[in-house]
Amino acid sequence: MKTWRMAVGLAVAGMLWMGAGPAPARKARAEEPAKAAAPAAGGSEKDKAKIKLAWDFGDRKLDVSKYPAEIQAAYKDFENQCTKCHDLTRPLNAPYATREEWQRYVKRMMSKPGCEMTMEKAKRIHKFLTHDSQVRKLKADGQTVTKEWQAYLDELKARYKKATGKEWKSPAAALAGQ
Ligand code: HEC
Repeated sequence: MKTWRMAVGLAVAGMLWMGAGPAPARKARAEEPAKAAAPAAGGSEKDKAKIKLAWDFGDRKLDVSKYPAEIQAAYKDFENQCTKCHDLTRPLNAPYATREEWQRYVKRMMSKPGCEMTMEKAKRIHKFLTHDSQVRKLKADGQTVTKEWQAYLDELKARYKKATGKEWKSPAAALAGQ
């Protein structure tokens, strides 16, 4: 009899414990941020987007008042579309600057679930990013970054280290929690 009561007691305790959190479904959700840190662990893209990259420590503001009207209009699309999952600081301060690089990254963002950006908008945003990068990041050759921009990127890496206590290695390493 005593054993029976103990068994019931244990079962109830077990149920309470499960209710308090680690029931299988809930456990998976609670662990998502940690899972997202591993490259192929299947955390959602929105969770992944919250993992800090060095580029997230840059300035949020950009004065576009001297840009051509068409580029200023494209900036609005950029602001609307590229803040759905992460802050605008990320694309504004990322090291990518050439036409080809931006093509790759805009396409990559388009493929993410929840992006839902039309091709027309993607092209406008690409135009904005290319123009802006030419003004702020690149030399006249359209390929090499300026010394000032390189120094700013180094500063962002230092800010990343200060904020996270970790040496900045690469986006992949940061996303993998290293
Ligand atoms: C649906 C969510 C989502 C939207 C919308 C989105 N991003 Fe992202 N972005 C992410 C995630 C997740 C990451 C980190 C994983 C990765 O790099 O693929 C990221 C990373 C980035 C990075 C850093 C990549 C690296 O490796 O350094 C840049 C730059 C970027 N996004 C630019 C943009 C631009 C530009 C737009 C708008 C056209 C945009 N994002 C819209 C989810 C999104």
